[in-house]
Amino acid sequence: MDRITVEPMVVADIPAAHEIERLSFSTPWPAQAFHDELTTNGLAHYVVARRKDRVVGFAGAWLMVDEAHITTFSVHPDHRRRGVGRRLLLALIDRAQALGAVRMTLEVRPSNRAARALYREYGFNDQGRRPGYYTDDGEDALVMTTPALDDPGFQDLLGSVRHRLEASA
Ligand SMILES: CC(C)(COP(=O)(O)OP(=O)(O)OC[C@H]1O[C@@H](n2cnc3c(N)ncnc32)[C@H](O)[C@@H]1OP(=O)(O)O)[C@@H](O)C(=O)NCCC(=O)NCCS
Repeated sequence: MDRITVEPMVVADIPAAHEIERLSFSTPWPAQAFHDELTTNGLAHYVVARRKDRVVGFAGAWLMVDEAHITTFSVHPDHRRRGVGRRLLLALIDRAQALGAVRMTLEVRPSNRAARALYREYGFNDQGRRPGYYTDDGEDALVMTTPALDDPGFQDLLGSVRHRLEASA
């Protein structure tokens, strides 16, 4: 398998990230939103995954006080099920912890089995529901949250994910 690297997103990555966003979501962010996130939002932290210099996925979070909230996360449809999502999520958690986040949270569609399975693998638990959260079809959002990032059990879990990813790189 070609090596996947995960790095901070830069402005030059926006067209590729926007294309992945467009292929992944029914109400994609406009490219300008990525630009604003990277250039004016001091709370925002975005990473991209590259395979052979091509952007194949991205993820982002806002660090609000001590909580990192995942804002968007997607992998190009041609590159799914090959561990890109796992690597992006691990990089985002590492970054959040380095920035002082105590825990991470996100919203996900109950119907999004792929993302929910991945989040559960990383220790995210169902925390609540926001009724009618998604404006395109009125689907509820599930709120999922990690345990405390410095919890020894959570660190063990991350360690085993990291070990598996390194073994498969
Ligand atoms: C969710 C998403 C980011 C996962 O990316 P990915 O690169 O395919 O994920 P990985 O290859 O690292 O998969 C990790 C695990 O997640 C789960 N998973 C991923 N895709 C799945 C699917 N289609 N069905 C069931 N489980 C799935 C599996 O447990 C998988 O492990 P496995 O392949 O060993 O069985 C990707 O499906 C995507 O971009 N979806 C559209 C955008 C989206 O829904 N984003 C999340 C918004 S909250």
